[in-house]
Amino acid sequence: MHEKIDYWFTPENKFKIAFLYDVILSKSDKTIREFLLVSLSHILKNCSRWLQSSTKPQIDPDKESQDPFVAFKKHTQQMIKKNEEFFNQLIADSYIQTKCEIKLEDARSTSLEKESVSAIITSPPYVTSYEYADIHQLTSYWYEYITDLKEFRKNFIGTFYSLNQSTDVESPLAQRIINKLKNKDSRTAKEVANYFNDMNSVLQEMHRVLKSEGYVCLVVGNTTMLNVKIKSAEVLADYLESLNFSIVQTIKRKIPYKLIPTIRDKIKIKYYR
Ligand SMILES: C[S@@+](CC[C@H](N)C(=O)[O-])C[C@H]1O[C@@H](n2cnc3c(N)ncnc32)[C@H](O)[C@@H]1O
Repeated sequence: MHEKIDYWFTPENKFKIAFLYDVILSKSDKTIREFLLVSLSHILKNCSRWLQSSTKPQIDPDKESQDPFVAFKKHTQQMIKKNEEFFNQLIADSYIQTKCEIKLEDARSTSLEKESVSAIITSPPYVTSYEYADIHQLTSYWYEYITDLKEFRKNFIGTFYSLNQSTDVESPLAQRIINKLKNKDSRTAKEVANYFNDMNSVLQEMHRVLKSEGYVCLVVGNTTMLNVKIKSAEVLADYLESLNFSIVQTIKRKIPYKLIPTIRDKIKIKYYR
């Protein structure tokens, strides 16, 4: 068991989660096992000492974490209910026979065939707002798919820990943003440039796998860093247009500050090739 588990969980909760994990792993049906693992993963933050309101890894010494048995039962019941609703909806809409396959891959380079996809609907990573590897760490430690968090972080887009030092980006708008950041802090400029370049790779991959007349729907959040407006939505639109996508619709949505503290407004853009 990873030593960090002792850091994030009280001994009592660690024991209860370990018990649940063991029981789940003993289930012979793979579908049921995976369904229950999703539920257990979901309750880990609430049952840990992680500061509840924070996406950053921070201990809350006064936190009254939830009881894993109670939380797991409640969340699993909720998942069963929602799963049933979804299942019934699929039957009603005659989609129940549609094949569904979940693949865990890097969005910058996938194993999908070229021009094999009709629609892409995604909420891609935000620009260095969240450290995704950190957010996923409780599950990663319990399910033993990482040993070294530092290495794990490098696989993610929008990380503070990227290696690429270049501040050259393809879109003129993106370059103006990077140049403004460079005047304030070179490290932030590198991180944002890295994010734009990574997202450009993702969009190129989307272009490769999408059928002509296929659709892309992106949910993108703009933000401000060091008083510089990081117009991610506009930059991604630039990249998409240079790949010959056309904008079908842009929906702007203000979201309450308290819901996503680092993001001021959200722009949803729909494209077709
Ligand atoms: C804004 S979140 C959206 C999450 C998801 N749509 C949801 O609602 O839970 C962006 C996600 O992109 C994932 N991500 C980061 N780098 C990635 C990469 N290279 N390939 C695929 N996904 C990545 C992050 O782990 C994170 O879960």
